[in-house]
Amino acid sequence: MNLLRGKRVLLGVTASIAAYKAAFIVRELVKLGAEVQVILTPSARDFVTPLTLGTLSKKPVLDALIADKDLGTWNNHVELGLWADLYLIAPASANTLAKMATGASDNLLLTVYLSARCPVYFAPAMDLDMHDHAANQANITLLESRGNIQIPSASGALASGLEGRGRLEEPDEIVRFINSHLSSTAPLAGKKVLITAGPTREAIDPVRYLSNHSSGKMGYAIAEAARGMGAQVTLISGPVSIVAPRGIDVIHVQSAQEMYDATLAHFAEAHCAILSAAVADFRPKVAATEKIKKDLAKTVIDLEETPDILKKLGEIKAHQFLIGFALETENEVENARKKLVKKNCDLIVLNSTRDAGATFGFDTNKVTFVTHNKTEVMELKSKADVAKDIITYLSEQLK
Ligand code: C5P
Repeated sequence: MNLLRGKRVLLGVTASIAAYKAAFIVRELVKLGAEVQVILTPSARDFVTPLTLGTLSKKPVLDALIADKDLGTWNNHVELGLWADLYLIAPASANTLAKMATGASDNLLLTVYLSARCPVYFAPAMDLDMHDHAANQANITLLESRGNIQIPSASGALASGLEGRGRLEEPDEIVRFINSHLSSTAPLAGKKVLITAGPTREAIDPVRYLSNHSSGKMGYAIAEAARGMGAQVTLISGPVSIVAPRGIDVIHVQSAQEMYDATLAHFAEAHCAILSAAVADFRPKVAATEKIKKDLAKTVIDLEETPDILKKLGEIKAHQFLIGFALETENEVENARKKLVKKNCDLIVLNSTRDAGATFGFDTNKVTFVTHNKTEVMELKSKADVAKDIITYLSEQLK
């Protein structure tokens, strides 16, 4: 599972002969879809050029707190620290490890380290005697005790000509280490999440159908957020024009009945179901097998209700956490709460058509979380951020 896709990664590079390997680390991270910002210590510039790292990461490399003395601009270490999903310091020299351990902050890499709230990984690289020195080992132990994650150095030929421990781990191994660490510690690791998304199409005849304006953006964003937090995701999707993110099992369906059948077939093994699809509420009682001729067409189509997937899951659910959506135009919270009870859900994500920038087709959404004991009104956000809120809430509930 690739958990680095879409992650914001700070790569701190220190003065070590192994700094040239940082170029390969950047390449591996970018290949996996991470956004990489490189920070060099002042001396690291002697070992690897900003041009190489900046070109590979597609971002100017940062190496100083003051960006431009004459203009009075600076690189904001607090913003950088908050921006990152993870901070990798590789190669990490003995000098930088010592400063990290004491809280020294005489360069940008270190000030960002002190400001970062994200997980910090460090990959030591130094000669074997430096590596094994009690002072260096004590620093590593101290950093680990504070929750920083060591990517241990490998054994082998060292730049000094000596043989032993202290070589920077190979770039692909470093990236694999981080990915598998993210997978094992991800909030939804080992959890199966079932999601419905998009509209359904209810056939009138082989060429005509009833449907709605759902784009599927919200459901796809939820699927991506769940996968990003380590879940195994099955997405039952109505017809949409979005390409499914990698790493997600997608089952394409057309009608409400097909969505019902596919969802029920996967529900028993799921830990959670999130039904964001805009399922058509009605379908023609009879779908004509041949295209209805214009002159023979009736002006009235007999409709019947489609099966209510969410309601059915509410009736049969055992351990599963059940999330439904509600689109309301009036008495929003009251109606959503009724739906919560009637469909035996654990959370209703409420959209209101009264909110600008919300619902169909937009890239933003404004929702309210309605649970059995509270109502939480959220800000207007990107659908990706709304999805993160839903999945964060879910992971807290599944703990
Ligand atoms: O009752 P209403 O259609 O407003 O409920 C919306 C919620 O129910 C959504 O989560 C939607 O995905 C789900 N639903 C369903 N099957 C239907 C109709 C709605 O799963 N036939």
